Amino acid sequence: MRLILLGPPGAGKGTQAQRIVEKYGIPQLSTGDMLRAAVAAKTEVGLKAEALMRDGKLVPDSVVNAIISERLDADDCKGGFILDGFPRTLIQADATEAMMKEKGIDLSAVISIEVDDKILADRVSGRYTCANCGAGYHDVNLKPKVEGVCDRCGSTHFKRRPDDTRETVVTRLSAYYRETSPLIGYYYAKGKLKTVDGMADIDKVSAEVDRILAGL
Ligand code: AP5
Ligand code: MG
Repeated sequence: MRLILLGPPGAGKGTQAQRIVEKYGIPQLSTGDMLRAAVAAKTEVGLKAEALMRDGKLVPDSVVNAIISERLDADDCKGGFILDGFPRTLIQADATEAMMKEKGIDLSAVISIEVDDKILADRVSGRYTCANCGAGYHDVNLKPKVEGVCDRCGSTHFKRRPDDTRETVVTRLSAYYRETSPLIGYYYAKGKLKTVDGMADIDKVSAEVDRILAGL
C-alpha cells in the first residue's frame, strides 16, 4: 500500500499516519519530521530549513524531493509507505510520479483530510508530542490516559513545535492554499483521490480511513 495523506496544517495527517503504521506496519514518511530531525542535528539541510519552517514557509522543492527519493529506497519501504506532508507542491507531485515510475511502483491512493479552517489554529496550538517516542497528543482533544505520562512509552517528557503558534498558522494555511490545495485536483484527475471528513473525532476519521484502505 502506497499512500499520500493530504491536508492543511493540523488536519490530522500525522495522527492518522501513526494509526495506519500501527495497523498495517508500513512506515510513515513525514517530511516535516525529517526536516525537524535535520534542524536538531544541524545538518546542511537543517540549516537551510530552520528559519523557513519557523516562519511557516515551504522548504525548497529540490531539498524535500531529494530527501524522499533517498528514503523510498530504504528496505522498510519495500512493502509500502505513507507519505505525510509530501508532496506539497505541483513540482513535488510531478517529482513523486517520476520517482515512482523509476522505482517501478504505483500509488495506491491519496487521502485528503477535509477540515474547516476555523478549527486549525486550535488544533495546532494545542498539539504536543512525546519527546521520547513521538506519540502525538492534544491539550483538549487527545490527552494521555494518565496526565503527564506518555501512553505508548511511559515517558514524562513532552515537547511542542516552534511553528505551532496561532500567528504562524496563518502563513502555513496560505502556503497550503497557494501551493498544496491544487494537488486535490491533480490527484482527482488521476482517479486517485479519496476524501475523509477530518472534522469528525479522531476514531471516526480512522474508521473512514480504514474503510478506504479496505477497498483498495
Ligand atoms: P509538517 O510537519 O508537515 O506540518 P503541517 O503540514 O503544517 O501539518 P501538521 O503536522 O501541523 O498537521 P497534521 O495534519 O499532521 O496534524 P496532526 O495529526 O499533528 O511541516 C512543517 C513544516 O516543514 C512546513 O511548514 C514546511 O516549512 C516544512 N515542510 C514539510 N514538508 C514539506 C514539503 N513537502 N515541502 C516543503 N516544505 C515542507 O494533528 C494536529 C493536532 O490536532 C494534534 O494535537 C491532534 O491530536 C489533533 N487532532 C488530529 N485529528 C483530530 C480530530 N479528528 N479531531 C480533533 N483533534 C484532532
Ligand atoms: Mg504532521
